[in-house]
Amino acid sequence: MDLLLILSQEHDKLPLAELRAVLEIEEIETELEIVCPGLVILRNLDEDVFDDYYRIFVRRLGYTHEVHQLIDECDYEDLDNAVKAIDWSEYVDENFAVRVKRFNTEIDTVATERRVGHLILTSTENISVNLSDPKSFIRVVVHHNHVYLCYGKYQLNKKYFEEMKPHKRPFFHPGCMSPKLARCMANLARVKEGDVVLDPFCGTGGILIEAGLIGCKVIGCDIDWKMKKGTATNLEYAGITNYKTHVVDVRELEMYEEVDAVVTDPPYGISTTTCGEGTSGIFSEFLQSIEHSMKKDALLVMASPHTLDIDSLLNDVGFILLERYEIKMHRSLTRIISVIAKIH
Ligand SMILES: C[S@@+](CC[C@H](N)C(=O)[O-])C[C@H]1O[C@@H](n2cnc3c(N)ncnc32)[C@H](O)[C@@H]1O
Repeated sequence: MDLLLILSQEHDKLPLAELRAVLEIEEIETELEIVCPGLVILRNLDEDVFDDYYRIFVRRLGYTHEVHQLIDECDYEDLDNAVKAIDWSEYVDENFAVRVKRFNTEIDTVATERRVGHLILTSTENISVNLSDPKSFIRVVVHHNHVYLCYGKYQLNKKYFEEMKPHKRPFFHPGCMSPKLARCMANLARVKEGDVVLDPFCGTGGILIEAGLIGCKVIGCDIDWKMKKGTATNLEYAGITNYKTHVVDVRELEMYEEVDAVVTDPPYGISTTTCGEGTSGIFSEFLQSIEHSMKKDALLVMASPHTLDIDSLLNDVGFILLERYEIKMHRSLTRIISVIAKIH
């Protein structure tokens, strides 16, 4: 069975990197087909666990907008026949909506929605159209001349990342990252349910909330007790109870347990303080102290400013760079996201 994913296009590499990381950690076997930027199909997923996989993507992915079961595909000219051939009673219950999304084509989306909706209505009994709050959602994706007919069984909570924006949480401080990027970083760290994730510069707890929602046990440290307290408040607000927070200077960090992943956004000395230490100094001391707190296969996913030469810092410690992504924040700051492993 196949899934069709509509990815965010706000970054050219991160959405796909995040998806690949989730496939890897959840051990999902599939053929990944990139149709065009923003459109991906996962082919030949195991039928027996298809529903479980579907739910994993919906629950975990930050930079993916939609995930749908691919029912059938055809050329645009054959759309009527393809729609008529499907037993819609398998997918449509009580009422439904058809929505068309197009990539690299000028087809009339409203006319296509009406056409497909009409054909479904005439082929099925006791159902109606409900555009505002449909029980069943049919997504039609048209790319050039090719049509993908999909069923949206599980919906991503599209409002979540909007509602969880940092300024809407009970504790706010400037310099927090977006929940989508925080989720993506947790995914890039290849964490799974039950893993222990540490953020030694936890600030307002943005990264820990996202790791907590994946099902990880989270530990937050910060030099500032107000941040430690604020992180706890924000974690409780997000419904996360499996957490610990500590006031710790990362330069003196000594963890009593090795963690499965470190996901963090150290201070750049721009909107968040480095407490008197130079940016390079704090990163260097952090990298030296954190290695001993990580399990052998643990990954470190870290944000840093483009002005910092991470490669030369890594040369001095027992780490190796696996992946690197650039996010242009504004004219004078590009954020670098690095995925780093321990050298065995
Ligand atoms: C960029 S903020 C973290 C933002 C966080 N990702 C969020 O979403 O809120 C960096 C944090 O590092 C803390 N910090 C600065 N120097 C530190 C040190 N030596 N040890 C531990 N924490 C430190 C600051 O108090 C600040 O809260």
